[in-house]
This record gives sequence, C-alpha cells and structure tokens, in this order.
Amino acid sequence: MSHLMSKMLHAARSEGTAVAAVNFYSFESARGALLAARDADRPVILAFGARYLKNLSLTQAAALARCSAESLNVKWALHLDHCSDLNVVRAAIDAGFDSVMYDGSALPFADNIRNTAQVVSWAAERGADVEAELGAVKTGAHSAEDSGSVELYTDPAQAAVFVRSTGIDALAVSIGTVHGLYKGTPHIRLDILEAIRAAVDTPLVRHGASGMGRGLLQDTIRRGICKINVNTELSMAGAAAAKELLDREPAAHLSSLSLTITEAFRKAAESYMDLAAMKPEERTSSAQGE
Ligand code: 13P
Repeated sequence: MSHLMSKMLHAARSEGTAVAAVNFYSFESARGALLAARDADRPVILAFGARYLKNLSLTQAAALARCSAESLNVKWALHLDHCSDLNVVRAAIDAGFDSVMYDGSALPFADNIRNTAQVVSWAAERGADVEAELGAVKTGAHSAEDSGSVELYTDPAQAAVFVRSTGIDALAVSIGTVHGLYKGTPHIRLDILEAIRAAVDTPLVRHGASGMGRGLLQDTIRRGICKINVNTELSMAGAAAAKELLDREPAAHLSSLSLTITEAFRKAAESYMDLAAMKPEERTSSAQGE
C-alpha cells in the first residue's frame, strides 16, 4: 500500500480543491458513492465508520468497497472513520484499509498524542495513513454519530504541537461544524481555520459537511480544508427516495428499493463532489466568508 489517501489530499490541496469522504455501510451507499465519483470524474474516499460495525465487519467493508468499484474506472481509497478503539484501528490497518482515523479527541491531550503516535507507527508498517482529531465536534440533527453536545474549537498552537509530536497525515479540526444538520444558523470560525492553516502544514479535514450551505463549505475549502466528510445528507436522500417509492408502490420489491436508494445516494454525493472539485476561481462565498 502506498499512502493513497495522503496522495489524494496533497493533489487536491495543490489545485485548491478537496476530496469528498463519503460514509458507507451498505452496498447502496458504497456503490452510490463510487458511481458519483465516476460521474464527477473525481477520486473518492470511502469512509467506513466504526459505528457501522453492526452493519458490516471490517473485512466485509473492505470486500464490499472492492467489489462495488468493479468495472468503474474510479480512484478510491478505503478509510476507517471515527474510531476510538485502538484494537479496531489496528485490525483495520491489518485488513488493508488505506487510512484510519483514530479519534482520541475526548482524551487528555498527552494521551491523545501517545495513542495517535502509536497508530502512526502501526500504519507506517503497512504504508497506511492516519487522520486524528483535535477539539470536539457536536452532534446536530439526524446524525448517526454520537459525538456529544460539547463543542471545543481546535487550538491552533496545540494543533502544531500535536501534528509535530504524532506525525499524522491529516488533521480533523473543530471550527463550529456539527455532525448532521445544524439546529440553528451555522457559525463557522473561519478565523480559527485560517490560524490552524498558518500553524500546520498537514492536510486539514472538515467533518460534518451536511446541511451547512454550499457557500460556507467553499469558504472552508478556500482556507485549506482538503477533505470534506459527508454522511447525513446522503443517508437522508436515500431514505427519502425509499419512502417515496414505498408511498407510490407499497409492494415494491426490495431489489427496486435498492436501486432507488443507490441512485438517490449517487445524486446527492455527486453534488458534493462537484462542489469539492471547483477550482478556486469558480468558487462563490457565503456572507460569512466575504
Ligand atoms: P455529516 O453527517 O454532517 O455529513 O458528517 C459526516 C462526518 O463528519 C463523518 O465523519
């Protein structure tokens, strides 16, 4: 393996774009994400969250990603999203994941550094990449994540120490974003993002892309975010399409439902990929980012 995710992120950063990391937990979501990447002509990070271990084992997720990509000429990387269990992180590296997110953000700083550095050394044995998080991202509406109700912005000076001490390949930042839909108007601290960007050279990751408005999302990409994680909105699109089909045809066959969900998921994912792919000169801004 060869630092696939890192290469994608550095390539995106050098052209001022971002890569979409799409959560998957089923054939519909994996295939929908890959079809979107094919149609948008973009690479994609297939992100399997540890919380979906109830849906698929790590080896099933890896096999599903591989077989869903069959016959599609798409560049993709397999990523373990949000995992605070070191044993699961190690198992994902051993199962061939291209990258892992060890989430020690709830731990004291020194423990987060120690555990993350351990993960970096395991990943190095396999040429895998490591993402880690500093700060705390809250859970909004309709999210499957359980990141709690505490919001703690990433401290730029601490981020510099963290990156230097751990050797991570990507840093997830907390700048007022939430997992899921916003319960009020999003207020994203672009000033903090700029300060983090000035303090660290590591690719920066934005969790919680759903529901924040396209202009604001672009403001964060313009300020150095090169991986955008999206889950809730795509799940909602798939579920809404399933409901619509069942309302219309209560006896719809499960195979039709599967195709309908895949297509709705694809469409929703593609709109994120198009946005992530915009060149800096094509981007619009939110009122906040002007
Ligand atoms: P959303 O559910 O808000 O899109 O966030 C997804 C995410 O950050 C996964 O890590």
